[in-house]
Amino acid sequence: MENVVRTHFFDHKEDLELDQRNLYFWRALQGHILADNVLPQQAVILDIGCHRGGLLELLIQKFNVVKVIGLDPLLSARKVAAQRLARFCVDAKFYDINGWQQVPNASVSLVVAHEVLQYIEHLPVVMSHIKRVLQPGAFAYIVLGCHSENPLWKQWKTELEAIGHTVYNHAPIDILAAAVDVGLAPSLRPLRDTGWVYYKPNEDEVFTYPSVSALLEHQYKHKLLFRLEKPL
Ligand SMILES: C[S@@+](CC[C@H](N)C(=O)[O-])C[C@H]1O[C@@H](n2cnc3c(N)ncnc32)[C@H](O)[C@@H]1O
Repeated sequence: MENVVRTHFFDHKEDLELDQRNLYFWRALQGHILADNVLPQQAVILDIGCHRGGLLELLIQKFNVVKVIGLDPLLSARKVAAQRLARFCVDAKFYDINGWQQVPNASVSLVVAHEVLQYIEHLPVVMSHIKRVLQPGAFAYIVLGCHSENPLWKQWKTELEAIGHTVYNHAPIDILAAAVDVGLAPSLRPLRDTGWVYYKPNEDEVFTYPSVSALLEHQYKHKLLFRLEKPL
């Protein structure tokens, strides 16, 4: 798969739908960031796997943000993200995954990542990057439902591999341990534990649920939010 240059994550239609489907999760993430009161005035936010910039757009609209950095291997998605965020008075930079090198030490107020760790093989590497770029006392908020403790992941992993994605099987406990190993202080919770669950079984072609109990179990239990703090 490494030799294949993807132009879309799924295809054009699915990529648009990914935005719409993930909006509810981005809102939940934004709610936790707000409730935890972790952002300074004039925040710098880095999104790992920013795709088309939807999460960054939401955060720019909700918080006082001066700079955003989006990292994503998908050039077409980075171009959409750059166009999408051009209307805001925010310095917006987008890089492929080598873009970590462009980010100075201790320069970022918040790192976010939504459903991306399953595409990253080496947890110690990504944790080291996060630790290096975060300002002391700042946090990373990482959402992941596609992990080895989620019973649905086995099915989704097979489906993703069938359409050519290389994915990795991370255990939540290994994510916590990898954070500790680089000196980050981890905590976690389900991303959501209440509220309405949106799902259109007749529309979604990927990330489907076999039953509503599996849907609720996924959304209220297995879709995890990891919060990693860089000590002062
Ligand atoms: C499931 S999509 C999620 C996109 C977005 N975070 C969202 O919430 O809609 C995964 C994204 O991770 C990107 N990705 C894959 N490997 C990556 C890596 N090593 N580093 C950063 N992003 C990566 C993909 O190109 C894709 O845009």
